[in-house]
Amino acid sequence: MNGDFVAWEDAKVHVLTHALHYGTGVFEGIRAYDTAEGPAVFRHREHLARLKRSAELYHMDLPYDTEQLRDVTHELIARNGLRSCYIRPIAYRGFGPMGLDPLDNPVEVSIAAYEWGAYLGEEGKRRGIRVKVSPWRRISPEALIPHAKASGQYLNSVLAKVDSRKAGYEEAILLDQHGNVCEGTGENVFLVRDRVIATPSHSASILDGITRKSVIAIARDLGFVVEERDVARAELSLADEAFLTGTAAELVPVREIDDRPVGAGEPGEVTRAVQKVFDDALCGREPRYAEWLDVVRVPSRA
Ligand SMILES: Cc1ncc(COP(=O)(O)O)c(C=O)c1O
Repeated sequence: MNGDFVAWEDAKVHVLTHALHYGTGVFEGIRAYDTAEGPAVFRHREHLARLKRSAELYHMDLPYDTEQLRDVTHELIARNGLRSCYIRPIAYRGFGPMGLDPLDNPVEVSIAAYEWGAYLGEEGKRRGIRVKVSPWRRISPEALIPHAKASGQYLNSVLAKVDSRKAGYEEAILLDQHGNVCEGTGENVFLVRDRVIATPSHSASILDGITRKSVIAIARDLGFVVEERDVARAELSLADEAFLTGTAAELVPVREIDDRPVGAGEPGEVTRAVQKVFDDALCGREPRYAEWLDVVRVPSRA
């Protein structure tokens, strides 16, 4: 926290932290995997670059540069003896003036690392999950900045997630302000029809997912056509296969949307093919994507 290593139980903030009241924080969700070379952080620099961009979009200057954040994350993982973990850096406006102008509040930075299994369950990754099209629309670019990963923006995801869970589903898909398919509450969406993969483009208010980018590269390398374009809601019903991607969830097949089976109601062939290579890439079993892994190295201190 703010440059010091702090024990889990001492990692506390003041109750008048600006971000707690107004959502003035930006964060990342990153994972490290247990590879033959040791723990390795997946696309570490890309995540930290997105953190910096999110901060800039909300007028925050990070007091550390990307390389400092990277080094300290390596040290955090090593000190905690973690082989694989979830990493949560957050930069937020701290205690200070309580008005809505945050510019005089300090920008505080913390990074947490802890063990966290598959967000939508191991069984979900194997068998596929059931999702609901949310009555909540994804935040529009006229109101907020969908490309930023900012704390306050996640109230939108919370509403959609709770609605879907209460209705008995594992996840929600939100439409954008035009009624096109946008994304999950913490995942990007992909559909497959006649072996062609489609995913909403940036014009659909999506977060520029790093898993999305990785999966698009893998699918194209496997020879699949991937279209980044507007995806109409009706295509959810026409798809042969569907899957979600995100750091927390990884690649999760969708077997049912709004009680209607997707294709045969089980993970399809294209999904399986991409998922296999993606899982191998995460764990360092795919030399082709070795550059995506930032192996934890702690410089020895003199
Ligand atoms: C709203 C939202 N969309 C998409 C994603 C997927 O992004 P990534 O693959 O970079 O984790 C996330 C997770 O970070 C998210 O919170």
